[in-house]
Formats: sequence, C-alpha cells, structure tokens
Amino acid sequence: METIFSGIQPSGTPTIGNYIGAMKQFIALQEEYNCYYCIVDEHAITVPQDRLKLRKQTKSLAALYLAVGLNPEKSTIFIQSEVPAHTQAAWIVQCNIPLGELERMTQFKDKSSKSGRTSVSAGLLTYPPLMVADIILYQSNLVPVGEDQKQHLELTRDFVDRFNNKYSNGEPILTLPEVKIPKFGGRIMSLQEPTKKMSKSDTNQKGFISMLDEPTVIRKKLKSAVTDSSGVIEYDVENKPGISNLLTIFSSFSGESIENLVARYAGAGYGTFKDELADAVIAVMEPIQERYNDLLTSDELTTILDNGALAANTVANKTLRKMKNAVGLGRK
Ligand code: TYM
Repeated sequence: METIFSGIQPSGTPTIGNYIGAMKQFIALQEEYNCYYCIVDEHAITVPQDRLKLRKQTKSLAALYLAVGLNPEKSTIFIQSEVPAHTQAAWIVQCNIPLGELERMTQFKDKSSKSGRTSVSAGLLTYPPLMVADIILYQSNLVPVGEDQKQHLELTRDFVDRFNNKYSNGEPILTLPEVKIPKFGGRIMSLQEPTKKMSKSDTNQKGFISMLDEPTVIRKKLKSAVTDSSGVIEYDVENKPGISNLLTIFSSFSGESIENLVARYAGAGYGTFKDELADAVIAVMEPIQERYNDLLTSDELTTILDNGALAANTVANKTLRKMKNAVGLGRK
C-alpha cells in the first residue's frame, strides 16, 4: 500500500476551503492508502499565537478530522509537536536547501511583505523545510493539498532528488512524493473578494465560512457573498469570479456537476441560487458539527491522539535515523 501524508494548521477553525481542498480528499483516499493526517501546530507558531487558543484549536481540529469521517482504524491521526523527529529532520533539510529557494517562496514573500521582513519570524522563512520534513519522514508517495501548497511540494521534490543524489549509494533514501490537487475546488475564493483565496485567518469574517459556523450564519454569509450585476448564473472565472466560486462550492457540496447546476439555475435569480446553495452546505455541515460536539467531550479523542503519536513516532524515527546516518550525524 502506498503512503499519504497531509496536514492542516490549527491556526483557526478550518474553513469550507480547507474542507473542499483538503479534508474531502483525505476521507476518500483513506480507503486505498496508508494515511498520516497531521495537525501541524509547529507550523502555526511561525506567526504569533495565543497559547491557550492554540491548544484549544489543536484539539478542535483533531475532533474535526474525526467528525468529517477520518477513521483512526485506517488513518494515523496525530499532532506534529508530539513527534520530535519533525523538527530534527527539518534541521537536516534546512542545511541542505539553498537560502535563495526559501526566499522565493510566494507565501513567505506575501506574508513578509505585509508585516515587513525585519519583523516576521525566522520560522516563517524556514516553514517550507519543516513541511518537507513532515512529508519525507513517512516516505510519502502522495500529498493531497489545495493549490496554494503546490510550490511547497515542488520544493519537496527538488529536495528529495538532491538529497538522494548526494547521499545515497544505490537505493534512494527518501521517497519522491507526488502532489494531489482536486480538479475543482483546489482554490476556494473569499466570499467578499472572490479574486483572493478563502482563508481562516482573514480579518473579514464575512469572507469565509468556518466549518463550525451555525447554519444561520452560513446562510447569512452566502446571502451576502459578492457576485456581479448581470444576474446570470454561469461559470466564467475571469469575468464572473464571484458566481463561479459559488458554483464550485455548490458542486463540491452537492456532488452535482457545474454544467448541471448552470443548466438547472438558468433564468433563476442569484437569491434562489444562494438559498439552495446554503441548503446544500448546511446539509453536509450540520451532521459534521453534531459529531464534532460529541467528540470534543469524549475520552476517545485522547486515546486516538496518543495512539497516533505512538505509531507516527515509530515510522518517523526510522527515516530520521537513515537521514542522520546519511549526513554523518552522531556515532551510528
Ligand atoms: P493550511 O492549514 O493553510 O491549509 C490546509 C489545507 O487546506 C488547503 N486550503 C485550501 N484549499 C482550497 N481552497 C482554499 N481556499 C484553501 N485554503 C487552504 C491547503 O492547500 C491545505 O491543503 N503548509 C500547510 C500545512 C502543512 C502540510 C504539510 C500540508 C504542513 N505540513 C505537509 C501537506 C503536507 C498549510 O499551511 O495548510
């Protein structure tokens, strides 16, 4: 069986963008792969976090992983900081990646240009090597992510090639991973600025739907989503980014193709469309939220995360030993 690794930052409650771009793929893939799904809390502290809030969000994300349908019998679910090999491997990765490559990462450029290069943490620059470490430690074959992570996956592949070429004699030490981005929904846009990615850290609450937003809030946010003045429901990302984004969300939640939706709503107004879109989103989210609330207060979560950390440590330490040996660290 091939191996999958992916992760989500507990830097806020996941949005429906995280659900469509990442979680939905996670669930489908756990049937056919040996899966590791991580709560990447070490990535979250690359920007300032409130410690109590971070702890709460970490636990909340674990409960959400289970509530959406990840099955601990099939997938290893764990918290990144409970597997020390991640930061240890990240150091070896950092020492084998040119600084220029990290400075070219668009996420670093975006975030550091907003707050200024001198004030952002060094961790923001070395964030991609930690992500490389996450992936390689499990000898992952496939990494399901949204479109915004594509560049980080390219960096990972370049690193693996370079590391294997430099350090292995014969058998490659590390597995070369492939990226898996959904055909539709790899980049869900903000409801208020549909040319900008939907993000859990957006300061405008109306721009995103959190997976824990109450049904009335979901409906309200969708009702106030920015569209255009033409009143025609069609898929045209260039000229009609707002309605195209809503069509993508609708299709992801209902399973109906975009063409079908366009045909079905021909002549209907944006009001009716948005109302029925809200029905489709709520129909999926409401049962997830119910399971989430039950899980959060159960002991089950603790056991699953303890077992997950145990299993992840065993696999990760094995690869870390190989990496340390390859570069000559320690006494063997
Ligand atoms: P994060 O926490 O920002 O997002 C988690 C996942 O959700 C996807 N995503 C989206 N997909 C579609 N539309 C959107 N608007 C949207 N917003 C987010 C992301 O692409 C991602 O798949 N660096 C990663 C976490 C990470 C990771 C890893 C992922 C750390 N190590 C190793 C894979 C493998 C991140 O910040 O994701």
